[in-house]
Amino acid sequence: MTRIAVTGALGKMGTMVIQETAKATDMQFVAGFDVFGAGKPLIEGVLVTDAAELESKLAKIKPDVLIDFTVAAASVENVCTAARLGIDLVVGTTGFSPDQHSRMRSAITGNVAAVITPNFSVGVNLFWKLISEAAKALKDYDIEIIEAHHNQKKDAPSGTALATVDVIKNVLGDVNVVHGREGMGLRGKEIGVHAVRGGDIVGDHTVLFAGSGERLEIKHQAHSRTALASGAVRAARWVANKEPGIYSMADVLELR
Ligand SMILES: NC(=O)c1ccc[n+]([C@@H]2O[C@H](COP(=O)([O-])OP(=O)(O)OC[C@H]3O[C@@H](n4cnc5c(N)ncnc54)[C@H](O)[C@@H]3O)[C@@H](O)[C@H]2O)c1
Repeated sequence: MTRIAVTGALGKMGTMVIQETAKATDMQFVAGFDVFGAGKPLIEGVLVTDAAELESKLAKIKPDVLIDFTVAAASVENVCTAARLGIDLVVGTTGFSPDQHSRMRSAITGNVAAVITPNFSVGVNLFWKLISEAAKALKDYDIEIIEAHHNQKKDAPSGTALATVDVIKNVLGDVNVVHGREGMGLRGKEIGVHAVRGGDIVGDHTVLFAGSGERLEIKHQAHSRTALASGAVRAARWVANKEPGIYSMADVLELR
């Protein structure tokens, strides 16, 4: 039985992850933390614990895995706390600065196993593989990335769009990246990244490869958060008791 705790328990993702964990026969949801709603029931027998009590509660109940869907600044602290206590991690939060990323990596390295990914869906992880193949074959084409999300999303562009830039850079080397465009002037070789925000869009990502006389678009659209939440739970099952290190969803899905 893998024992799971969740930070961001009352958020959109945290709520779904808890539901998915409760459905799994090989998992037990043991604690949920948030900055509001302390004492509110999450599932039968588990109430929201105030985020300020994270370290003491984790030390007491010793879950196997902490799943984090919060905000970047909080997530870094949560990761450091869990790593100090030897609790494996699944981190879905996005929007980390390079400094936050490196703090998180050094807290994890040598101490615990962690799956960190801006996107847990099988479709997006396959999408990255297809993008890599297309970038190899269409080296001279112009590349644009367009992402769309709901109007509550805090970080822009999305972590998935930034990871898509990295996939392309791994093939083409260091390419100039511009975020949106405005004003006059001819453009050199660059990748444009465009973030659309509106309504309740769960998450769309399109990569456009445009050449002379043709274009290819590779697109992923999430219809609900279910695929993301079940992917996070799958990652938690996979990461528990793995050798310390930082893993991606490609490791979990054996897509390498
Ligand atoms: N990796 C993925 O597949 C994936 C999918 C969707 C969203 N996300 C990312 O996950 C994060 C959360 O997304 P969401 O849509 O659930 O957001 P949300 O705003 O609905 O939920 C975040 C929750 O975290 C709580 N929180 C903030 N600080 C906290 C702390 N210190 N301790 C405990 N809880 C704290 C908030 O009160 C809130 O309930 C975002 O960064 C988002 O971009 C990742």
